[in-house]
Amino acid sequence: MATATTTTVPPFAAKETLSLPLKAEGAPSHAQSASAAAAALPTPPLTRPSSPSLSRKPSKPYARPSTHHLDEYRHAELTPAIGLQFTRELQVRDVLRMPEDDPKREEMLKELAYLISFHGVCVFPAQDLTPDELSSLALALGKASGAPPDSSLHIHPTAELGENGRPTVGAISNVAGAMGRQINFKDERSELASQGIHSDISFEQRPARYSALRMTTLPPTGGDTMFYSSYAHASMLSPAMFSMLSSLSAIHSGRVFRDQARRFGFDLHLGPRGAPENVGDDFEAVHPVIRTNAVTGFHALNVNPTFTERIVGLTFDESRAILDYLYKVQAQAHDAQVRIRWEKDTLCIWDNAAVLHAATFDFKGHERSGDRTVCVGEKPYFDAENGTTRKEALGSVV
Ligand SMILES: [Fe+2]
Repeated sequence: MATATTTTVPPFAAKETLSLPLKAEGAPSHAQSASAAAAALPTPPLTRPSSPSLSRKPSKPYARPSTHHLDEYRHAELTPAIGLQFTRELQVRDVLRMPEDDPKREEMLKELAYLISFHGVCVFPAQDLTPDELSSLALALGKASGAPPDSSLHIHPTAELGENGRPTVGAISNVAGAMGRQINFKDERSELASQGIHSDISFEQRPARYSALRMTTLPPTGGDTMFYSSYAHASMLSPAMFSMLSSLSAIHSGRVFRDQARRFGFDLHLGPRGAPENVGDDFEAVHPVIRTNAVTGFHALNVNPTFTERIVGLTFDESRAILDYLYKVQAQAHDAQVRIRWEKDTLCIWDNAAVLHAATFDFKGHERSGDRTVCVGEKPYFDAENGTTRKEALGSVV
């Protein structure tokens, strides 16, 4: 871990610097507009209803908090593109336990939320925090960051049942749980850990905003988590590629969990899962390929190899080729990555609209487990008018 020193977050340039036109979704496909012969093409473009969120404007301007309470606590950037590390001086439970009517509590939560969204992931060592407090923290951060008021904690479709028979919030483990309910993204056909890169629950209509993970049991070595800056990935695109991708949506699917439930014979949690829209067993949503972060206003590449299936409006082969290229950027751009080496009771909180992540299963015969909680955010949208790339806003390399 980096030595902690005080750093200052550069001011957010609120002015729009990229002016990229939106292309209407739902345009007639080749198969719809051409002859019957054309309709028989082997890989017709997939069309879906347009995504109204693609051009939705945020209800508030993007701005960082004006208070600086967290400057009192040592912290340091882990890389220029991604990651911020605090020291154990900051115990997030102390913030949580401040009186709710103390304005400083809300101001500190807003600062924390902004720093997490700005840097993608924040690391808090040696945190004394119960699972219930972790959940309260995630909810409070979501609220402080302006998540829709009906957002709550996500309950995963494969969630274990608690003593009351209801699905429980949070906990991860590599040890097989009862009925095979553990979350498992490992693609058994691939030895590449990068196949497990994902944004939490992107298959939901309203995916995750913040995820918080406090690791409690670790192998002697291994089990690190990789984080990948989706802001940097968006910044790396040429203006022409950015313009095209910002007009497109993609299908995200979590049908893997249906298969898992069928194989092991357990019932899935059909919802609501943290938002009224997150119900049923479709586990499928259409989201913009470039989304704008609701907290920072930074554009982020919004596809991942775990859940994204297909770009809408392109042929199967076009979609495959473009997704493969974008996954290559995610896996290979190591200037947009940070590797977190866990210690017992380390807490990481990340913004799923700013980063992707992947666990590293490079250990065997040991337990790796912790408390995990996820608060749900908004329906993803692309805001061409008010958003910007992080690179444009900061004048950074990526
Ligand atoms: Fe995850």
